[in-house]
Amino acid sequence: MSIETELVDLAAQVAREAGELARTRRAEGVRLAATKSSLADIVTDADREVEALIRARLRDARPDDGFLGEETEPESGESGITWVVDPIDGTVNYAYGIPSYAVSIAAVRGVPLPGEWEALAGAVYAPAIDELFTAARGGGAWLGDRRLSVTDEVPAGALLATGFGYDPSTHDGDLATVRTIMSIARDLRRAGAASLDLAYVAAGRLDGYFERGLKPWDFAAGALLVAEAGGEVSRIDTESLRPMLIAAGTEVHARLLALLEKTS
Ligand code: IPD
Repeated sequence: MSIETELVDLAAQVAREAGELARTRRAEGVRLAATKSSLADIVTDADREVEALIRARLRDARPDDGFLGEETEPESGESGITWVVDPIDGTVNYAYGIPSYAVSIAAVRGVPLPGEWEALAGAVYAPAIDELFTAARGGGAWLGDRRLSVTDEVPAGALLATGFGYDPSTHDGDLATVRTIMSIARDLRRAGAASLDLAYVAAGRLDGYFERGLKPWDFAAGALLVAEAGGEVSRIDTESLRPMLIAAGTEVHARLLALLEKTS
């Protein structure tokens, strides 16, 4: 078995178990544990409990790997592989009872920094709708047992998605960016979970996605899904505090890149 297959099998298994825990806790009622960078940036008890479960399962299975998660301290490992984890991506949806939330787990090799790591495997599991997206480097992207591909030509305008940072001072700039890209859009979605936006680009449910200021755990698994579904993923403005991630099929990616480079 290749290392990629071993890692994606583990990511999928742990994402399912973690997702079931998140769904159970949601049904019992969600309690806000704290706010983080701003009032909108929340963490629930379930985020912490689910991350603890994921961390424990990964440590049991692969004790030499590193860990980089949204809710706990990072830890470096000996194996050269790091797990990049968002226990509940779409926390605001989760807190409000909107089913668009997901567990996102990726295994990356090398320095665990976007632009430097090599993604080997990823799983994005949406427990409320029981959809499991997986990808292993060189092995394609999958929704369950269905192989995924991004959309290619989009003559009628692209169905795009984006997200907004939690810091209110960034909203004007992000809204100006939205105005710019509407020239090529059929319509725009803001569904509230970056990992699922990327999974949907991989599945051809969206033609493209862009967002500034994502954290590594928001996109590590989803970006691999898009790449393995034949799409392109770029990060621009990487020197800024809020680099822009762009993910789409080749044609829409080129159009987005041309427009978004002008907003930098
Ligand atoms: C957030 C979601 C959201 C995106 C934010 C992320 P979280 O992650 O992915 O869609 O717009 O940038 O921070 O906080 O729910 O894990």
